[in-house]
Amino acid sequence: MFFSNSYLTRKMVFIWLLLLSTTVLSNELLQHSSDSQRQKAAQQVTQQFLKRLGGHLRNEMKNHGPVAAIKVCKELAPAIASELSLENGWRVTRVTSKPRNALTGFPDSWEQKTLAEFQALADSGEKYSTMAKTEVVEESGRSYFRFMKPLAIKPVCLSCHGSDEQIPAEVRAELEKNYPFDQATDYKPGELRGAVSIKQPMDIPLNKKFLND
Ligand code: HEC
Repeated sequence: MFFSNSYLTRKMVFIWLLLLSTTVLSNELLQHSSDSQRQKAAQQVTQQFLKRLGGHLRNEMKNHGPVAAIKVCKELAPAIASELSLENGWRVTRVTSKPRNALTGFPDSWEQKTLAEFQALADSGEKYSTMAKTEVVEESGRSYFRFMKPLAIKPVCLSCHGSDEQIPAEVRAELEKNYPFDQATDYKPGELRGAVSIKQPMDIPLNKKFLND
């Protein structure tokens, strides 16, 4: 009697463990598939953001020069970012370890850690263009999906983020007027300027338009 009872218990424990492991596994798979959809969506939105911003910047620089182009970075970049944020229930921003706009450009601790990781990867020979970081993090009891893609300095950036000699005097005057605490100068081509950063609470469902892709 005693033997069969314990046999039964062991068998039940075994079945229970088996069931538990399959539920855990399927939850993980579910979690994983929705994460990868969020990742795909974040990549798409980042691409859109950079394409729109880059296009406007190039056009404005070519047609009206760098003083006029300041407004692309100053007004259009945050406007596109907030448009994409509202559309998707996300927070889309640009962050950096050397902000020009101290109010919006400062990274939080996860972003600081990720910028340092991008830098370390670059130091070991990886290209910024192939890097991106995705992670689900817990903050004050809520889960967030986080995504970051590095932005490197290109020659076109230097007339506003380069050395004193590279930034035309009128641009420097305009920048000094608007950004008295500007740290975003003296960059060289290929250096890490910052990153596009996306954050979304996991309990907000992904925008349906991304699910059908
Ligand atoms: C015409 C001048 C100009 C050019 C060219 C320019 N930027 Fe900027 N950039 C600015 C200004 C002005 C800001 C501050 C925007 C604001 O007030 O939010 C800024 C802000 C940024 C920020 C946000 C973080 C911060 O420092 O506040 C990033 C990232 C950035 N620029 C990257 C780039 C990159 C990469 C390029 C080249 C592809 C570039 N910029 C070209 C003027 C410029």
